[in-house]
Amino acid sequence: MNTTDAINRNASKGTDDVRGKTIFFFGIVGMLFLGWIIFPFFIYAPVAQPVQFSHSTHAGDNVGLKCVDCHSYDKDGRFLGIPGTSKCAGCHSHTIGVSDEEKKFVDEYILRHKEIRWVVYSSQPENVYFSHATHVKVGKLDCETCHFGHEFTDKLRPARFSRISGYSIDVSGSTLLDIPSTPSTGMRMDDCAGCHNKRGHKESCIDCHK
Ligand code: HEC
Ligand code: HEC
Ligand code: HEC
Ligand code: HEC
Ligand code: HEC
Repeated sequence: MNTTDAINRNASKGTDDVRGKTIFFFGIVGMLFLGWIIFPFFIYAPVAQPVQFSHSTHAGDNVGLKCVDCHSYDKDGRFLGIPGTSKCAGCHSHTIGVSDEEKKFVDEYILRHKEIRWVVYSSQPENVYFSHATHVKVGKLDCETCHFGHEFTDKLRPARFSRISGYSIDVSGSTLLDIPSTPSTGMRMDDCAGCHNKRGHKESCIDCHK
C-alpha cells in the first residue's frame, strides 16, 4: 500500500463519517419534525369559529368595554362564560362598521335572532370540575394566568380537537414533552396541580373530578 492509497482511504473514511453524521442529524430533525409538527397536525382536527370576533377591538381603547361587561357572574357567583348575542345587540342592531365580518354577524345572527355557537378553546373533559369564581374572585388570579392573553387577540385561531380523545389541544397539549407549540398549552391536570402544589393546596382526586 503506498501513501497515496492510505490518504485516499482515510479521506473516504472521513467522507463516510461526515455522511453518516449528516444522515443521523437529518434523521433526528426529521423525527422531531414528524413528532412535533406533522403528528399533532394529523391528530388534531381544526374547527373554525363561526364569527371572527376581535377582543382587541372590543376590550381595547377604541370600544373600551371591560371584561365583566361581557364575561359576568350570575347572582350565585357562577361564571356565565361566553356572552349571548343580547350583550351585542345594543351596539350591533344594524351594521356600524365597514368590515365583512361585522356585516355577516349582523345579517346572520342579530337580525335572525340566532345565537352563535362559539367553540371553547379551554373546554375541559366532562369529568373535570372547574370554578371561575373560586380562581378569579377568591384566588385573585388574572384571566391571563390561564388563558395566555386571549383577550388581546385580533383574529380567532381555529380550535383544535384530538381525533382520538376529543380533547382540545389547549387542554391536552400539542406535544408529549412540555414544549408549547400552540399559543396556549397549559390546562392539563399537571398544570392545575402544579399551581395548587406551589400554593400548598393539597387536594384529592374528587376535588377536581366529578
Ligand atoms: C364584547 C364582549 C366581550 C368583551 C368586552 C370581552 N370578551 Fe372575552 N369573549 C367574548 C366572546 C364573544 C368570546 C367567544 C369568542 C372567542 O373565543 O374570542 C369570548 C371568549 C373569551 C375567552 C375564551 C375562552 C376559551 O377558552 O375559549 C377568554 C379567555 C376571554 N374571552 C377573556 C376575556 C377577557 C380577559 C376580557 C377583558 C379584557 C374579555 N374577554 C372581554 C366577548 C367578550
Ligand atoms: C359597546 C358597543 C359594542 C358591543 C357591546 C359589541 N360590539 Fe362588536 N363592534 C363594536 C365596534 C365599535 C366595532 C368596530 C366596527 C368597525 O369599525 O368596523 C365592532 C366590531 C365587531 C365585529 C367585526 C370584527 C371585529 O371584532 O372588529 C364583530 C364580528 C363584532 N363586533 C361582534 C360582536 C359580538 C359578537 C358582540 C357581543 C358578544 C359585540 N360585537 C359587542 C362595538 C360593539
Ligand atoms: C385558573 C385558571 C383560569 C383563570 C384564572 C381563568 N380561567 Fe377561564 N377557563 C379556565 C378553564 C379551565 C376553562 C374551561 C372550563 C370548563 O370547560 O369547564 C375556562 C373557560 C373559560 C371561558 C369559556 C366559557 C366557559 O365558561 O367554559 C371563558 C369565556 C373564560 N374562561 C373567560 C375567563 C375570564 C374572563 C377570566 C378572568 C376574569 C378567566 N377566564 C380566568 C381557566 C381559567
Ligand atoms: C395559577 C394557579 C392555579 C391554576 C393554574 C389552577 N388553580 Fe385551582 N385553585 C387555585 C387557587 C388559588 C385556589 C384556592 C382559592 C382559595 O380557596 O383560596 C384553587 C382552588 C381550586 C379548587 C377547590 C375550590 C373549588 O372550586 O371548589 C378546585 C376544584 C380547583 N382549584 C380546580 C382546578 C382545576 C381543575 C384547574 C386546571 C384546569 C385549576 N384548578 C388550575 C389556583 C390555581
Ligand atoms: C387540580 C385538579 C385535579 C386533581 C387534584 C386531579 N385531576 Fe385528574 N385531571 C384534571 C384535569 C384538568 C384533567 C383534564 C386534562 C388532562 O387530561 O390533563 C384531568 C384528567 C384526568 C384523567 C384523564 C381523564 C380522561 O377522561 O381521559 C385521569 C384518568 C385523571 N385525571 C385521574 C386523576 C386521579 C386518579 C387523581 C387523584 C390522584 C386526579 N386525577 C386528580 C384535574 C385534576
